[in-house]
Amino acid sequence: MSFSSPGNAAAENLDPHRMPLHVAVIMDGNGRWARRRLLNRIRGHEAGAETVRRIVRASREVGLAYLTLYAFSTENWQRPNAEVNALMGLLERFLDGEQAQLMENNIRLRAIGQTGRLPGGVKAALERVTSATSANDGMTLILALSYGGRDEIVTMAKNLAQEAAAGRLDADRIDARTVADRLETAGIPDPDLLIRTSGEMRISNFLLWQIAYAEIFFTDTLWPDFSRQEFLSILSAYQRRERRFGRV
Ligand code: FPP
Repeated sequence: MSFSSPGNAAAENLDPHRMPLHVAVIMDGNGRWARRRLLNRIRGHEAGAETVRRIVRASREVGLAYLTLYAFSTENWQRPNAEVNALMGLLERFLDGEQAQLMENNIRLRAIGQTGRLPGGVKAALERVTSATSANDGMTLILALSYGGRDEIVTMAKNLAQEAAAGRLDADRIDARTVADRLETAGIPDPDLLIRTSGEMRISNFLLWQIAYAEIFFTDTLWPDFSRQEFLSILSAYQRRERRFGRV
């Protein structure tokens, strides 16, 4: 079944002219969801993967151009081995299982983060799906994997310094565009809207540069319980906010 049918934005009372171009999500609360059900944390991540499918589908339906999901942070490597391995397995199965859906719905997959650190199976699946979907232009799904905003900025600073030292860049001419063009998100518009689930009010090293002017919504809902309806109501609330970008 295709979920790219137009008209859904209207059905949900969303103004198609005021849709965010790019929504970023910190998917949090899988562990607590599981604990409340006396389940292993890994069951929470499995339920979270279902929510990923639901929100990707809803995003495509309402016509978002970019959806970025924080699936694994650089700090997440410090979790117990069993949990890291389970998350990596889940990711690999997700990538293998979703390729057909992504193709059918014209969704391009990209990844940001230190993907070189991922296990071989995940890396291979990522390369396969990224390359298979590279010509799709209905929506871009960006998975942040082994991603850290500070790491990204440090790498960018090193690249700038090397370019300047090699005489390819005039340090006096560095501006915001120079920086943005050297981040992993080069070419991707900054998120208009950032959502974090599970009641935590932190940014947790996510897209530090890119969210400078993002509207931020926090919800107490745990990620596995995050519904299409709540997502749409946040999009609707976003449309009621006045964005001033520092102006009056
Ligand atoms: C935060 O919950 C979630 C993560 C660290 C991983 C996110 C992973 C998924 C949603 C599933 C797999 C992803 C894809 C793209 C298929 P937490 O474990 O920190 O929850 P807690 O704060 O309640 O312990």
